[in-house]
This record gives sequence, structure tokens and C-alpha cells, in this order.
Amino acid sequence: RKYRKTLIAGNWKMNKTPTQTKAFMTELKGLLPKGRWCDIALCVPAVCIPAAVRAMRETRVAIGAENCNAHTSGAYTGEIAADMLVDAGCKYVILGHSERRAMGETDADVNAKLHTALDAGLIPIVCCGETLAQRESGVTEEWITMQIKLALAGVPEEKIRRIVIAYEPIWAIGTGETATPEQAEEVCQHIRTIIRKRFGSKNARAMTILYGGSMNEKNAFELLAQPDIDGGLIGGASLVPEKFVRIIEDAN
Ligand code: G3P
Repeated sequence: RKYRKTLIAGNWKMNKTPTQTKAFMTELKGLLPKGRWCDIALCVPAVCIPAAVRAMRETRVAIGAENCNAHTSGAYTGEIAADMLVDAGCKYVILGHSERRAMGETDADVNAKLHTALDAGLIPIVCCGETLAQRESGVTEEWITMQIKLALAGVPEEKIRRIVIAYEPIWAIGTGETATPEQAEEVCQHIRTIIRKRFGSKNARAMTILYGGSMNEKNAFELLAQPDIDGGLIGGASLVPEKFVRIIEDAN
């Protein structure tokens, strides 16, 4: 743990308006513990980014987006480029979330977006995770290995530390059914092994790997105590300031 940063990141998904964002951030600011804490991020809907950035300017809470386009600019109606997110004040971008993959995003798309995000200077939070059927048929490790290899294709060694990986078992997302600390640790450790083989042990030790899937203020402590879990990607519980802050406190 001492080799790497702990990151508690919220993923708001398609929740909250800009007005609600402002109210949430004001409340969060009042609750944030003083002193030196882990890295904190909130990834919010694109239209909420300006309100979130403005509200959190003088704080340690970084703002992120939930997606970006693989192209740098051009005729892509409705899409948002990584450069625009940087200019708007984003530090992070979630890529390859299973909810986006379910809408048709492929491993190749995730890889292309990853390169664009890195070039723009964003820190990508790359998601991977198996379905319940895959877990039950015993192919979880193979599946994760493939997802990670395809997502990270072409990433040079000197850039790997600018990437965060999030393990989110699909069966645990929004279901209230959290992976046990042992289940989550097993896969996060496996991810670190994949990184070690491809990018060397120094990079593997430095890489921040998150767990996501029904993580909340009640189960975070045990999950975060696992040696290869360096933080969380939190959905539902990141929508409530008190819950999000309790998880931050557990990460320290
Ligand atoms: O990206 C976070 C996420 O998919 C987990 O959602 O609501 O189960 O914490 P939730």
C-alpha cells in the first residue's frame, strides 16, 4: 500500500442536475475531513462538470467525466472530446464501464479512448469485470486478462502509471450484492499480476487498482483493507454526501 495512492472515486452515472450538483458539493465541502487524506474524485455527467469544478476549486476533490470520445475533434454530433474535458477542469475520465459496454462499446473502443485520454492529460479509470454466468463457469481470470490486455494495447511503459484500473464485477453493480473482500482481492491481485508481466514489478507495485460494485459506508473498510485494493469506484453511495465521506474516512 505504501507504494501507491489510494483513490476514492464516485461515479454518478446519469444522476443529478447542475443545480443538484452545486447543492451536493456545498454539503460535501462541509463534511470533508481536515488534514491529509486519500485522493478523492467525483465523476459526474458532462453538463454537471462546470458546476462541480467551480464548487470544488479550493478543495482536494478532483472532478472527472464518465466517458470521452476516441477522436480529438470533428463531426461527431453529441460527443465530447478529451481536450474539452481537460479545459473544463476534469482530471479523470471513466472508460469502459460495463454500462457503456452494454450499449455497444467494444474493447477496441475502450483502447482508442484510453490513448486519446492519455494524450489529453486525463487519468483514465479503466473498468473491467465479469458477468455472473462467467464467474459461475470459472472463466473470470481469463476474461479479465483479455479485457485488460485489449484495453491497454499499445500503452508504453512510461505511461502505465497514469492509468487507474477498476475491477467491477457486473453482478455486484447496483445490486446490493458486494463481492466478498476475498473475491475482490483475488481478482485485483490477478490484475496486478497481469500488469507485472507486461509492465514490470515496479509499475505493478505503483498501480492503483480500485474495486467497484455496491461498495458503501458499511462494507468499504473491509474491502479497502485488502492488500491489492487501493480504493473504490462508488456508484449509489457517492450520491449521498454523508455516505461518500464515510467511505473516504475508511480509506485512511
Ligand atoms: O462505477 C461504479 C459502479 O458501477 C458501482 O455502482 O451503485 O453498485 O456502487 P454501485
